[in-house]
Amino acid sequence: MKVLLFGGAGYIGTHVALAFMDRGDEVGIYDNLSSGLRSNVPDGAAFYEGDILDRARVAEVLSEGWDAAVHLAAFKAAGESMLKPEKYSENNITGSLILITECEKHDCMNFILSSSAATYGEPQYLPIDEKHPNDPTNYYGYTKLAIEENLKWYSKLRGMRFAALRYFNAAGYDTEGRMLGLERNPANLLPIIMECACGIRKQIGIFGTDYDTPDGTCIRDYVHVSDLAEAHVLAAKYISEEKENLIVNLGSEKGISVKEMVEAARRITGKEIPAVDSPRRAGDPARLVASSALAHEKLGWTARKSDVDTLISSTWMVYQKNVSK
Ligand code: UFG
Repeated sequence: MKVLLFGGAGYIGTHVALAFMDRGDEVGIYDNLSSGLRSNVPDGAAFYEGDILDRARVAEVLSEGWDAAVHLAAFKAAGESMLKPEKYSENNITGSLILITECEKHDCMNFILSSSAATYGEPQYLPIDEKHPNDPTNYYGYTKLAIEENLKWYSKLRGMRFAALRYFNAAGYDTEGRMLGLERNPANLLPIIMECACGIRKQIGIFGTDYDTPDGTCIRDYVHVSDLAEAHVLAAKYISEEKENLIVNLGSEKGISVKEMVEAARRITGKEIPAVDSPRRAGDPARLVASSALAHEKLGWTARKSDVDTLISSTWMVYQKNVSK
């Protein structure tokens, strides 16, 4: 299969590229390098510098002929999306419409979207399955839902096939150490813990210790980025062979609290990792845990590397390499 990854030089995209290449697929990476790293583009992948808002450039690259497109070129900071919605509507929604329409024009009819559990909003029940109502609590989550809705329309009207993969909390790095550069300006829990372990940051603030959870801190479902990557390969195969669309959760189905994550990181890194109790962060639900039964049923997918030790040790390995440079 010949697969074009939009946003393929980013943290998740480079892992997705490796997963396709490990299966012998031909990979092209289209990225504007605003947050992706040229040095993380795997050897053997074709690289096209370009922005998804540049319709002419998107068309030029698509005209080379591709079997599937994977779309990972989005802004993803939920907090920022509430302050700068125009940044998110322009890139995430307008940019996606350019990709969808150009893919259709160039007969690239299999489309895999990097979507998010942020489409669900505050959980009404747990674990969250795909029948859970969609009521995003931030604009970022809304942009993902809007793209999914457009894919449904383009499927009905033009016969495009799509898979929307709703990630829970992506974490970890390639366990074989093939990923050399770190994600730029990370805002998520595990990278922040790692920055403390390396001494880049003095301490981590634990956002809320009075939630209705066993240790009072928020519980999340962390899923290894290589497990996520594997699901893209399976989804591409599924939609092209079964000729059926797919919207699936990707999570480990296990909940880990913020304090548990910090304690496990202290154990694995042997570093102190100072943590201070801090106020709640607006918009954080107490618990988010996936049901991935549908991904298992349709794709035969399960999270195999998403245990806490692998998540932390694979991340620590890359941080140590980068900090000792
Ligand atoms: N947290 C802290 N301190 C920090 C950073 C995070 O206590 O310095 C806590 C948060 O409050 C939250 C947990 O760690 O309880 C995880 O926070 P992240 O920011 O790493 O991730 P989120 O759960 O907020 O969101 C992530 C992605 C979203 C995606 C969502 C889906 O960033 O894009 O998972 O579950 F939609």
